[in-house]
This record gives sequence, structure tokens and C-alpha cells, in this order.
Amino acid sequence: MTEPTPPSRFYVTTPIYYVNDEAHIGHAYTTTLADVLRGYHRIMGEETFFLTGLDEHGQKVQQAADKLGITPQEHCDRMAPRFQALWEKMGIVPDDFVRTTEPRHKAIVTDILQRIWDKGLIYDATYEGWYEVSEERFLTDKEIEEKGYTKDSPEISFIKEKNYFFKMSAYQDWLIEHIQSHPDFIRPESRKNEILGFLRQPLGDLCISRPKSRLSWGIELPFDKDYVTYVWFDALINYISVHLDRGGEAELQKWWPNSLHLIGKDILTTHCVYWTTMLQAAGYTQPKTILAHGWWLLDSAKMSKSKGNVVKPLDLMDKYGVDAFRYFLIRDMTLGLDSNFSEKALVERINSDLANDFGNLLNRTLNLLKRNFEGVIPSPGEKGELEIELETLGQQTIANVKALVLDFKLHAALEDTLQLVRRANKYMEQTAPWKTAKTDLPRTGTILWHVLEIFRLAAALLAPVIPGKIADLLDQLGLEPSALKLEWGILPPGTQTHEPRVLFPRQEFKTEEEKMLTESPIETTPTPPAATPAATNPSPAGSPAVNAEENGANLLIGIEDFAKVELRVAQIQEAERVPKTDKLMRLIVDLGGETRQIVAGIAAFYSPEQLLGKKVIVVANLKPAKLRGLESRGMLLAAKNETQFSILTLLDDVAPGARVS
Ligand code: ME8
Ligand code: MG
Repeated sequence: MTEPTPPSRFYVTTPIYYVNDEAHIGHAYTTTLADVLRGYHRIMGEETFFLTGLDEHGQKVQQAADKLGITPQEHCDRMAPRFQALWEKMGIVPDDFVRTTEPRHKAIVTDILQRIWDKGLIYDATYEGWYEVSEERFLTDKEIEEKGYTKDSPEISFIKEKNYFFKMSAYQDWLIEHIQSHPDFIRPESRKNEILGFLRQPLGDLCISRPKSRLSWGIELPFDKDYVTYVWFDALINYISVHLDRGGEAELQKWWPNSLHLIGKDILTTHCVYWTTMLQAAGYTQPKTILAHGWWLLDSAKMSKSKGNVVKPLDLMDKYGVDAFRYFLIRDMTLGLDSNFSEKALVERINSDLANDFGNLLNRTLNLLKRNFEGVIPSPGEKGELEIELETLGQQTIANVKALVLDFKLHAALEDTLQLVRRANKYMEQTAPWKTAKTDLPRTGTILWHVLEIFRLAAALLAPVIPGKIADLLDQLGLEPSALKLEWGILPPGTQTHEPRVLFPRQEFKTEEEKMLTESPIETTPTPPAATPAATNPSPAGSPAVNAEENGANLLIGIEDFAKVELRVAQIQEAERVPKTDKLMRLIVDLGGETRQIVAGIAAFYSPEQLLGKKVIVVANLKPAKLRGLESRGMLLAAKNETQFSILTLLDDVAPGARVS
């Protein structure tokens, strides 16, 4: 009998954030990234552990508490729930949440300090140097110069005192060798080179204590009760203290060989140099990978609370929804590089990928299913060339996404997934199931099954990023969460789908200027009559003003009246003449995120074939009306005179749903 292979595992951590800072988009990003990676590894069948938490000791917290006139512990206890509530709101449930003031963590830190002390790797000496509170560390002369500080800068203070030192310098050669022989240890490559560059200078020893007389808010040194542990020496240990506490060395060994530390590039040195040498000294093996991502920038500057240029994740989620926000974070940052945040880019991303490509196709497909199959998923039937191509692409996408995730190229994994959805869109255009439905129902069933199978697969591939919306999608499809498998061909025929709902409503982004134009009432000053016709009447240039007035064009409206009319670009997906009239045409149009039926009086001028696929302008907020028993929701714009008639269409390609103004 062969032994069952143990399940492969995945352990992911985020930095534990300073408790005194309000979380901003940067913190939300790293935590979302960890959650998304955990989700992908889960769906790939691995056992996972996701740890995040808070860094509660140190001078920053003490200072913040002093200012508020409360104890540091009270301050931490007030702040911790805010972080926890944010993660909950973002749909993020870590397997453990560590706070460095917890007894379980403090006990392990004490233990490890004692162990390193017993090995003779800690000594005391008098230290003098410049300390920067915001970074919680001593700066070198070079760093002081780079940061533009002078000896009078309030950010730094000169400190001369006895302290304890960890013999970090003893590990320099070992560390260089370890980095070079483990290509996956520091990612991306640019960060690895940065650390190797840093290690070309002689590595110093690390000051790991603070005298209680200066700072008491920390973990007491087991070998000198007048000192507390330096905050970084305490905080870094969280990555193993949680497991050691949960189940000792055995529990740690379960996770540690497959560990991934996600960090921002600000804390590269502390992780790649301090942490690694600490582990080595204490007799532990190294984490598998340390991955440093870039910054979210605002107007090309790093966000920071002290600069006041932070983007608050809660505001964005309230406005656009949790899943859309998560999607944007993952799709719009290339891991390792910086990314400029803009609300406009967020809205464009939601509209193009989620509302248009994904949500809209789903809506169209489910509506076709409803009209032709009473909402029951048909069987896949006989496959043609196109269907074989789709299946191949589906399988390729699974393999690509897995490889991209393991290589931390999540933006590309999402792009590949969306390409699959876009291919399904094209397949719909190629096969036109709304046409085949009239002549060949089994073929129509084959087409719809394939589009829906792509949705099921795309749902599995997107669930780690947009879990809430994927749950909604599964409900619309009538499927169980167990349907989220990375396999092709498992969509069960016979499943009763549910009423289609819009998954991602189109969003609108207005600049401050646009808001002023559309939201503030505009004063109507009398316009000189001569200016009227040109502004309001599309009659040929140079025609006498009187024509316009006779046509009633002298009725002036304010922009706020015009803004009440919601004009949108729509694409015609289905067109057929309404029986027993020669005027009316029944259209199904795609409004970007929703499909509608419109009955239009255009049958005398166009054949259904001429209309298919055309992009037109519709009044989207017209009250529904019934024409020959058919509901019509909206109106097409057309230009006409006694002899001519033309539907309005677009000069350049614009996606369905776009507003016309
Ligand atoms: O450094 N863009 O905590 P911290 C992207 N307590 N990510 C950002 C970001 C931005 N603009 N700003 C912050 C600490 N981050 C220590 C960590 S770990 C043992 C101790 C993210 O609250 C990024 O992950 O300053 C960065 O590394 C982290 O927040 C810093 O959080
Ligand atoms: Mg920081």
C-alpha cells in the first residue's frame, strides 16, 4: 500500500500593523493580498493558514497614549477592534489574529531571548546614536543625510545609553549564502538585489533593548528587569509565536516550510536581515519566501498619515462595494511595482471588467436561458469546433492562472480569467443563440451550456478575489459552492437557475468640475434670441432663426432639465419584427450590465439583420410602456425629416452603458 501523500500547505502572513495608525489603503492592500493568495491556494486544494495582527509595543504607541492621557494598553484595546472590524467588513477572516501584548506572544518572545542569551549571542555596551521614533530604529549617518534631517530635526533624538546587542554581524556570510542558494527566498528579484547590495557593507550588531527609564512599554528582558525588548525584536517573532503557542514545535513545523511573508518594501531590511539572523541564532529554519510589494501612491507620493494624503478603504467600499474594491486592488497593482491610486481608475476598472465583460454577459445569458429553457441549464450536446476551442481555452486558463498565482502575478491571473470571459462574449456573437433559438433548440442549449460553463469556471477562478459576488453568482446559477472547482466540464445540466440580477452595477465617476455642472442648479439668464437656434436646434447652419422658432425650438431648458434624461449607449443583440404590424421592431439591447427589451417604430426603415450588433443611443429612464402587448423599456434616438430617417449611432467605438451627455 502506498502512503497517502500529505496535503501540501500554505502559510501566509501580513506585517502586524502599528496599532496607533488608522488603517489606509496600503494596509488594506497587503491584507487583501494575503486573503486572496490564501483563497487561491485553498481552491488548489491546499491546507492553509493566514495570520495577521497588530504591533502594540514601542515608543510610538506610548507617545500616542500619553497624548490621550490613557495607558498604552487602553490605547491598544481601543484601536484593535477598528482593525478587526475593517478586515471583517472586507470579508477577510484570518485563521489567527495576533496582538503582541497577549501573554501567549510575550511568553515565546521571552523564551527566545533567553535562548539566544544562553548561547552567548547577546552582549551589553554603551550605545550612542540618532533614533527616529516613526520608524522605531536608530539611523545611520548616511540615512540621516538621505532623509534630509539635521541634528535639530524634531523627528530624531540623540541617545546615549547602555543597551543589549544581538551579534547579528556573525551571520553576514551565512545570510549572503542563504539568499544566493534560495532563489525564492526574497522576491521580487529587485528586492533581493537590494538586500545583497546592503550586505556588501559590513553588517553591524543589532541593539535589541530599551532602558525602562526611557521606554517602559515593551516586553521585559528575561536577563535584565531594567530593560524592555526593542519593538522589532518582539514583533517579528509573531510569525512563529502563534504556532509555537498553538501546538509547539510540531505545529510550527507543519506550516513553516511553506511560509510566505508579505510585506511592503519599507520593511524589507527588518525582515530580510534582522528576522532571518534572529531565527538562525535561535535555532530555527528560515521562512520559504519574503515578498515585498510596492506602494500605493497618491499623486505620485507615498501615502502616510503624517502627510495626511491617505485613501480610506472604508469610504471606497461604502461607495463601490467590497468586492469591486478588492478586485481593483489586486488587478491594478503589479506585484513589486508602485501603483498610483485614482478613483477614476477604480471606476473604469469596475465598469470595463466587472459590469461590462463579466456581469453583462452573465445577465444576457441567464435571460436567454429564461426565455428559451425556462431557466433550466440544458445539456452540452454535440461539440463543434468552437466548443472544442472553448474547452481548450478553459483548460489552458486553469493551468495559466495556477502558474501565475504561484509566481505572484495576480494582476495577470485576473487578466487571463477575464480573457476567458471575453472569449465567451465573442462566442455568443459568433453563434447568436437568440437566432438559433427559433430553429434549433438543442444547438442553442449547447451554446448556452458552454457560456455558463465558462461562467462556472471563471467563478472558481475569481472566488478568491470577489467572494461575495461569486456567492451571489452561484445563487443565480442555482449551484452549490462545491461547483467552484478548477476543472472543465462539470456544469450539471438540469439545474434550475434563479432570477437574473445585476452583479456589478455600472459606476459613474465625476470630477469636481463635472459635479458642479450636473449637481448645482444653473441660473437661467435670458438668452438673446439670435443665439437660441444654433444652441438648441439641429437645423442646417445659416437657416433663418424663424424656422427654429416655428419648430418650437425657442423653449429653453436648463442643464438640470437635460440631466434628467438618461441617455446611454446600447448595443442591439436581438431584433425581430413584431407580427401583424409593419412599423414595430422588438429589440433586445445590451445596456452594459443589463439587457432590456425595447419596442421601436423602425421596422419600415431597417431589417433585423441591419440592426444586429449596432450601437445606438437610448433614453434609458423612460417610463415603461406596452406596445402590442410587449413591454418596452426605453426609446431609441433617431433623426428624421419628411424623406429621411436614421438611427443615431456612434462615430467611435464606445462600450454599451456609456452615458451620453
Ligand atoms: O511597519 N502602499 O507597521 P505599519 C502599500 N509594525 N502598502 C502599504 C502602504 C502603501 N502606501 N503603507 C503601508 C510596521 N503599507 C510594523 C510591521 S511586522 C513584524 C511589523 C503596508 O503599520 C505595507 O504592508 O507601518 C507595509 O509594509 C505595512 O503596511 C507597514 O505597516
Ligand atoms: Mg510604517
